[in-house]
Amino acid sequence: MARITASVYTSHVPAIGAALDLGKSHEPYWQPVFKGYEFSKQWMKDNTPDVIFLVYNDHATAFSLEMIPTFAIGCAAEFTPADEGWGPRPVPKVIGHPELAAHIAQSVIQDDFDLTIVNKMDVDHGLTVPLSLMCDQQTGESAAWPCPVIPFAVNVVQYPVPNGRRCYNLGQAIRKAVESYDRPLNVQIWGTGGMSHQLQGARAGLINREWDNAWLDQLINDPDACAATPHIDYVREAGSEGIELVMWLIARGAMADVAGGAKPTVRHRFYHVPASNTAVGHLILENNI
Ligand code: DHB
Ligand code: FE
Repeated sequence: MARITASVYTSHVPAIGAALDLGKSHEPYWQPVFKGYEFSKQWMKDNTPDVIFLVYNDHATAFSLEMIPTFAIGCAAEFTPADEGWGPRPVPKVIGHPELAAHIAQSVIQDDFDLTIVNKMDVDHGLTVPLSLMCDQQTGESAAWPCPVIPFAVNVVQYPVPNGRRCYNLGQAIRKAVESYDRPLNVQIWGTGGMSHQLQGARAGLINREWDNAWLDQLINDPDACAATPHIDYVREAGSEGIELVMWLIARGAMADVAGGAKPTVRHRFYHVPASNTAVGHLILENNI
C-alpha cells in the first residue's frame, strides 16, 4: 500500500525562479531566501519519495480565463514548463505518474470531489519554483527532477474559489486514495503558494508577518480550526493573493493526525520577507506512521 510520508509547504514567487535561472542566488538580496531552503534540499536528498503530489495554482497559463477548473489533476505522462512571457524556464520537464493519478482521481471523485481530469497541460512557476527550491536548480543535458510528480491545480485566481474547509476535506480524501493504492509507494504531498502578498490595487505590496506566523502556528497545531478561516480573512489580512494559502490546507488535511493518527513532526520551519512582493513561508512536516 502507498503511504503519505510527509508534507511540504512553500511559497512559489516567480522571481525566485528567475534568480536561480539567471545565476543570482548568491546576491545579498536572495541569500537569506535560499539559506532557508539549505536544510530542505538535503532533507529531499535523504528522503526522496517515489512520487510528489504537488498542489499548486496555475496563473492563467495552462487555463486561460476562458476555462477555469476548480480542482484539476494531471494524469499525463509528462508536463512541459510553460512559457510565461520570458520563455520557458530552463528546467527539466516534469514526469508524471499516470497510474497513481488515475487511481487518485477514481477514489476522490467517488468520494464526491468533482476533479477535472487533465491529460495534457503545461506547468508554470506555481509548480516549477517549489521544485527548484526543494530540489536545487537542475540544468544541463542530464537534468531531471528526482521523482515523478502529479500536478494538482487549484483555482485561486478567479472567484468563486474553494474554501479552506473544502480543501482540508479534499486532503483527507487524497490520503484515503493514496492508502488504497496497492503498490508500496512513498508519497509526499506539497501545498504551495502564499504567504501574504497582494500584487495589485491600492494595497499592492501588502505583507503581514504577524498574521502569517499565527496562521502557520494554527496550521501545524490546530488544522481543523485553521480550515475554518474564511476567505475574507485571507484577503483582508494576507492580501488578495494570500488566498493561495488555502492550497496548504489540502496537504495538511492529508496528514495522519487528521485521520486520528499521531501528530506530525515539524522537521523544518522558515519565514522570510520579502521576496519580490511576497512573504516566503516554508514548512516540512513528517508523518509518524
Ligand atoms: C509574485 C507572487 C506570486 O505568487 C505570483 O504568482 C506572481 C508574482 C510576486 O511576489 O511578485
Ligand atoms: Fe502566485
